[in-house]
Amino acid sequence: MSSNPQANRVLSGMRPTGQLHLGNYHGALKNWVDLQYQYRCFFFVADWHALTTGYEDTSRLPEYTREMVIDWLAAGLNPGVATIFVQSYVPEHAELHLLLSMITPLSWLERVPTYKDQQAELQEKDLATYGFLGYPLLQSADILLYRPRYVPVGEDQVAHVEMTREVARRFNNLFGRESGFEGKSEKAIGELGARNSKLYRELRRKFQETGDTASLEKAQAIVRSNTRIIVADRERLLGYLEGSSVSILPEPQALLTPTPKLPGLDGRKMSKSYGNTIGLREDPDSVTRKLKTMQTDPARVRRTDPGDPDNCPVWSLHEVYSDESTRSWTAAGCRSAGIGCLECKKPLIDRIVAEATTMRQRAAEYENNPELVRAVLTQGSEKARETARETLDEVRNAMLLRED
Ligand code: TRP
Ligand code: SF4
Repeated sequence: MSSNPQANRVLSGMRPTGQLHLGNYHGALKNWVDLQYQYRCFFFVADWHALTTGYEDTSRLPEYTREMVIDWLAAGLNPGVATIFVQSYVPEHAELHLLLSMITPLSWLERVPTYKDQQAELQEKDLATYGFLGYPLLQSADILLYRPRYVPVGEDQVAHVEMTREVARRFNNLFGRESGFEGKSEKAIGELGARNSKLYRELRRKFQETGDTASLEKAQAIVRSNTRIIVADRERLLGYLEGSSVSILPEPQALLTPTPKLPGLDGRKMSKSYGNTIGLREDPDSVTRKLKTMQTDPARVRRTDPGDPDNCPVWSLHEVYSDESTRSWTAAGCRSAGIGCLECKKPLIDRIVAEATTMRQRAAEYENNPELVRAVLTQGSEKARETARETLDEVRNAMLLRED
């Protein structure tokens, strides 16, 4: 019987895109840095995912992986705390993907919104491939392999986590059967103690009759917080809440990252493909130069024209970087034409240069020593593999593929 690890794990991944910019930082990475101290975190470079749209030219993949990981470390991800690894160093991802592919209806993949969207967006590429269609399922395998409770992602990835939950449910229904499951579960309920047994039954009935997820979550919390029951019983009780099977692959939840919309230098969303970014480790001169020429409220042509912060991308940066008093000084000065745009940008330049300087200092030891980055990744990948193997052993057992 399995250990129940769903516990307090978090997993997320990023495609290797090379050096990260401030949009990547505020949209995801900063949140990872916070999460590493609250959960057992697994963060990985999704290099196989990069192949699903970029299979023709892989020449920059090693560089992109290295540069992105240096940015992770520069931002404060700590390899002594979080497990940092590369997808392709952990071949278990591929095996689980294959096994899950057997039970996944084609229609589930075809209806994932990114499938048609990206094909339309990347017209110049031939994305009528098997790998591209299957990529959300590869993501499901990435996730389920580590049995995390939470998957921090942006809005665009929520549909993939939803599909992952459906795949897990299907797997558990098909292969999570155990002889005498009901009897064993009923017996395990008795182990919860009189009060919690009663509560568990009530909440289970409520969830099964009405689909009320709040009841489900309450019951799950009762089971998870009980430290006296054995691990096998805990799994049974979690599975029994939702149906008549053991949850070998627990359903993860998306953890939506609250993302400030970070504008790029031209006012559009900051994005590598627009060439409007500020790098996380950009040098001070370049940060200064870029911000000085950054787009402002187009209505503010002359210094004497009042402006409107709501029409100004620089203001959005103030919302992320500046404290309350700087913000009110800026907003008032802009509306009254009391300050000029360069004055307004000055405190921002200082803050962003200071932040980039911290990043550059942390990155320095890795930039000069590629072996060190490699060591972080091989050690992290070995650690990840231990967890991945545990899951895969249970999956194989459940499917009767290799009975030990
Ligand atoms: N598909 C994600 C992206 O393009 C990256 C990714 C791959 C991922 N596997 C994952 C994210 C697992 C979270 C969990 O951004
Ligand atoms: Fe934008 Fe600041 Fe200039 Fe106003 S003063 S338009 S907020 S840069």
